[in-house]
Amino acid sequence: MILVFGSLNADFFLQVKTFPLPGETVLTPNALIKAGGKGANQAAAAAKAGGLVKMIGAVGTDEVAKVPITALKALGVDCSAIQVSDQATGMAMIMVDEQGENSIVVASGANMTVQADAVTQAVLTSDTILVMQMEVPAEENFKLLRRAKASGMKTVLNVAPAREIPQADLNLVDYLILNEIEADTLYNSLYEKTFLGVEEKAAALSEKTQGVCLITLGENGVVGAENGEIFKVPALSVTPVDTTGAGDAFVGIFAAMLDNGMDTRQAVRHAVAGSGLACLKMGAQEALPSLKEIEARVEEIEIM
Ligand code: RIB
Repeated sequence: MILVFGSLNADFFLQVKTFPLPGETVLTPNALIKAGGKGANQAAAAAKAGGLVKMIGAVGTDEVAKVPITALKALGVDCSAIQVSDQATGMAMIMVDEQGENSIVVASGANMTVQADAVTQAVLTSDTILVMQMEVPAEENFKLLRRAKASGMKTVLNVAPAREIPQADLNLVDYLILNEIEADTLYNSLYEKTFLGVEEKAAALSEKTQGVCLITLGENGVVGAENGEIFKVPALSVTPVDTTGAGDAFVGIFAAMLDNGMDTRQAVRHAVAGSGLACLKMGAQEALPSLKEIEARVEEIEIM
C-alpha cells in the first residue's frame, strides 16, 4: 500500500502564447479547472498505475475541495482520512505556454493546516510506502517521517518545492527525488558550493541519506545514485502538451512500481515512461497512464 501525505489543490489553468512580462496583460479565452496539488497528483498517479493508495492532506469546507477529492475517489484512492480545515482549499494558478512549459503560483490555504499527529498509527505499517512532498508544513512532514521510520516503513521524499532538509531527517529518507533546481538548493545547503555535475550531486545526496537519490531532468530523463553507483534513464520521446505534474507522475508511478516489487532501476524506468505519457493532455492528472499503457512504452527506454 502507498500512503501519500501532502497537498490537494484545484488547478486553474490559463493557456497563453507566451508568459506575460511584468506589467503586461494577455488574454486567454477561458480558465480550465482541474484537480491538482503535488500530493494529490502523486496519489492519483500511483492509483492509476495500479497501486492501492491512501491520501492524507487537508481541504477547506468550500466547494473547491470537491475538485481534487472527486478525482481521487474516481481512481479508487482512499480519502477517508483527509482532514477538514477552516482555511480555504488550496488553489494553483497555472499558466501553460505553447511549448507546454508552465509557470505556477500556489495559494496554499488548508494545505498548511494538515496535522501529522492526526494520522493514526494503524496506517503506518511496515508494508506501506510513505510518499511526501514539500507543499505542506515541513515540520508536519518530518514528524510523520520519524513515525514512519520507527514503524519500519519505506519512505519517499520529493523535495518539491525546493528547500533545505535537516540532516537528521534526511537520514530517514530511503528515496530522495528532486529536480535539478531542488537538488541544487539541497546540495548547496549541505556542502560547500562547488560546480559539480548532476551525477556527482546525485552521488553526494545519496551519500547524505544513505539511500537512493533520483534527480529528474525533464526531457533529459533521470540520473540516479544507489549504493555508490550512478545510472541514467533517458526520457520517453513525446511531444508535450502540458508538463504540469510530470514530476508528480514520476513520483507516484515510482512508488507504485516499488510497491509492486520492482527494484529501483526498473521502477525508475517505468516511472520515466509514465511521466512522459502524463504530458500528453492539459492538466496534471488528465493523461496519467495505466500500468498497461506504461508497459506498452517502457521497452523504448534503456537504462544506462
Ligand atoms: O506539480 C504540479 C502541481 O503543483 C499542480 O497540480 C499545482 O497544484 C501545484 O501544487
